[in-house]
Amino acid sequence: MADPSVDVVEGCRLPVLRKNQDNEDEWPLAEILSVKDNPGRKLYYVHYIDFNKRLDEWVTPDRLDLKKLQFPKKEAKTPTKNGLSGSRPSSPERDVKRKAESVSLATQVTAATPVPSLPSSAEASQASVFPAIRDTPFIKSRDEHEQLTTNGTPRRLIPSQPGRKRKNCGTDEMVKVFQNNNSRCSTIYLLPGEDSQDSSDGIPTAPRMTGSLVSDRSHDDIVTRMKNIDCIELGRHRLKPWYFSPYPQELTTLPILYLCEFCLKYVKSLKCLQRHLTKCNLRHPPGNEIYRKGTISFFEIDGRKNKAYSQNLCLLAKCFLDHKTLYYDTDPFLFYVMTEYDPKGFHIVGYFSKEKESTEDYNVACILTLPPYQRRGYGKLLIEFSYELSKVEGRTGTPEKPLSDLGLLSYRSYWSQTILEILMDLKSENGERPQITINEISEITSVKKEDVISTLQYLNLINYYKGQYILTLSEEIVDGHERAMQKRHLRIDPKCLHFTPKDWSKRGKW
Ligand code: ACO
Ligand code: ZN
Repeated sequence: MADPSVDVVEGCRLPVLRKNQDNEDEWPLAEILSVKDNPGRKLYYVHYIDFNKRLDEWVTPDRLDLKKLQFPKKEAKTPTKNGLSGSRPSSPERDVKRKAESVSLATQVTAATPVPSLPSSAEASQASVFPAIRDTPFIKSRDEHEQLTTNGTPRRLIPSQPGRKRKNCGTDEMVKVFQNNNSRCSTIYLLPGEDSQDSSDGIPTAPRMTGSLVSDRSHDDIVTRMKNIDCIELGRHRLKPWYFSPYPQELTTLPILYLCEFCLKYVKSLKCLQRHLTKCNLRHPPGNEIYRKGTISFFEIDGRKNKAYSQNLCLLAKCFLDHKTLYYDTDPFLFYVMTEYDPKGFHIVGYFSKEKESTEDYNVACILTLPPYQRRGYGKLLIEFSYELSKVEGRTGTPEKPLSDLGLLSYRSYWSQTILEILMDLKSENGERPQITINEISEITSVKKEDVISTLQYLNLINYYKGQYILTLSEEIVDGHERAMQKRHLRIDPKCLHFTPKDWSKRGKW
């Protein structure tokens, strides 16, 4: 129990009681980010030092271990294991921002940016009757210019944390495959490839400072480090945000923020939502439906033509994306929203955004599966879809860096399965070991070469044998892959994709 005589202030560190995944008590070191003096008892907002920020929470004094209390060191910055800043920066800029805290949360995000206002009531008029999904024609936006009008300044989601550098073998390699007939263990020979000058690796070094990766954490002050929305009601789901999102400040004190699940407009009460629903006749995201198989559809939304929707989507997404920063221009982006259909409409499951033009081969900027749908294969389905688009474009692609912890897990899993699928399908010819180059793997899958190399390294397949690189697919790898593929039920069917890429460079203006 906390001793009220001890002054636990912002910046203090001490062990705090929490439950781990197995529901056991543990006492990780945490930092106090804020103190709320509720009548009767204090509440402390804590960040567990070596844990992702999404676990930050308000705790009662009895969860603090005051015997190990450390007071804040002046001007100290505390990097955590995952490289994210563990303490709020103690820069003069922060002090300025703290003074401005009373102004608006939204203005804290970037200086000199307009405060987002509540959306206007203008919504697109869209077909609203869906008798049965099989009989429903693909949804085309009637006139995209008639879609939602903007009601504030659009913003874009931008990563704000440099990645880590990793070593790899550094060359494009010819991969020679040998299938051992009597064994499930394959040996794959890596021979020098056709272009060996490329020594870049698959893991990012640092975000670029232009375009959609403009990033720093100068705005990462005490306000934006704390979750500000308690609960969001979206259709039949209640979502608990993980991170700060710059919804208008007057909405942050509400116990529940209500969103229209189709146009994503946010309102302050159930009553307002009900009123909105009588006027809003969207039953699917705006834009064109470019994929449908079974109950899964994808809609392509232009960030310029559907600003209000794109802006609302970014605000919602920011609740679950920490390393992205909201910026104010959705024009250069396309949004691919995945939905699940039922007779009430096309319900958003997740999305990814994509720059219309990327000089760095990014085929995904931000990707999100809404929490109620997570860990059911939808994330990998979104990733697979992003690579199917790249295949149609005839390009290789890579996600914008840095990846979040969950993003990295998902991409690694997708890349591993995709590459192993190719390697295990290779057949030997005339008793010769089949061969494939890294470039060929990249071309077949549209996975950027650096990601192919980093995945082969991550899977620890690369060995050096008798003067050449070989890949060995152990029985363990083969079995593990087959088991994983049996569980992967959700797949993209390229035949169901109706997508014609646009050459945005020829369009002058997006
Ligand atoms: N713990 C452990 N493993 C996990 C977890 C988790 N919480 N979440 C996903 N995984 C693993 C899964 O086990 C799976 O691997 P496997 O098939 O080899 O077992 C893999 O990641 C993908 O799982 P899915 O169910 O397909 O993915 P999901 O629908 O949960 O979506 C996503 C993954 C999009 C990253 C989701 O966690 C999310 O939206 N997170 C918040 C936003 C985010 O971090 N986005 C990525 C940012 S990077 C970027 O935008 C480019
Ligand atoms: Zn609506």
